[in-house]
Amino acid sequence: MNHFVSMKDLSAGEIQQLIKLAEQYERGQYSNLTKEGKRFVANLFYEPSTRTKMSFEVAEKKLGLEILDFHCDSSSEQKGESIYDTAKTFSSIGAEALIIRHPVDNQVQLLAEQLPVPVINAGDGKGEHPTQSLLDLYTMYKEFSYFKDLKVLMIGDILHSRVARSNALALKTLGAEVFLSCPKEWQDPNIDYPYLDLDEAIEHCDVAMLLRIQLERHQHQTNLSAQQYLARYGLTKEREQRMKSNAIIMHPAPVNRNVEIEDCLVECERSRIFKQMEYGVYTRMAVLNMLLNKGDEAVGENHQTMYAHAQQW
Ligand code: NCD
Repeated sequence: MNHFVSMKDLSAGEIQQLIKLAEQYERGQYSNLTKEGKRFVANLFYEPSTRTKMSFEVAEKKLGLEILDFHCDSSSEQKGESIYDTAKTFSSIGAEALIIRHPVDNQVQLLAEQLPVPVINAGDGKGEHPTQSLLDLYTMYKEFSYFKDLKVLMIGDILHSRVARSNALALKTLGAEVFLSCPKEWQDPNIDYPYLDLDEAIEHCDVAMLLRIQLERHQHQTNLSAQQYLARYGLTKEREQRMKSNAIIMHPAPVNRNVEIEDCLVECERSRIFKQMEYGVYTRMAVLNMLLNKGDEAVGENHQTMYAHAQQW
């Protein structure tokens, strides 16, 4: 693994390896990635972020890495510098990995092809968000310990969601059963899973994954009010009560309360929304380790055994 830009690049074995490493981090079994001298990484966020940026920062600090923090507004981007030149600058001055979020689809992949250091995609437009997917997978794994035939229902703005795209790819690799539910105009013909009626699907899923309405990426405004959206496509208390007894609720956040999900459900017993945020730290530590130390901290099962076990997920 040289970069972490798309879930399509990861085999089931590699996903399992990252999950196992994240588990070690959750248990507190790790040491710094910096045995001798300082090691730098750069967080280049060209789009707003709270969870992703901050949990990368916590992950980096826990691993003893020094962070080069970048602010678009006060950078040479304001003088017209290209993102390639900015990113190359960071690698030239010593950043050993670049964590990049950008509003343009595929921009991070392009940079990864051009730069001499590992690049991590922290979300590119409507493209992908692989570290969010990894923390989502970790959340499911912690709950169910398997992926094969796990029923995952993704609900909401499928067309504009990079989270949906990355999870669709990863869950296919892992053999889960994915189905989707959303307004017709937000269906994505490139995501090859069945679209079902929410009222029917909600009763059969193990995971109900809600997606934020990506207003900033919409070409046209939707005609639905928040109340209408919740009633037709959102997770209401009434729908939640018809879910399987052990089914869980997920949402990458930020949440539009009372739009995608009824306010009272955000922190209900089934909700793993804030757990997902915690897991984002361990999974991002695992990704950083894989790229900067080639997963050298993995203890217990060797990689060969992990690949063999992955087939049984
Ligand atoms: C997601 C994102 O930015 O793509 N949020 C996140 O990273 N936690 C989802 C979203 O913004 O809807």
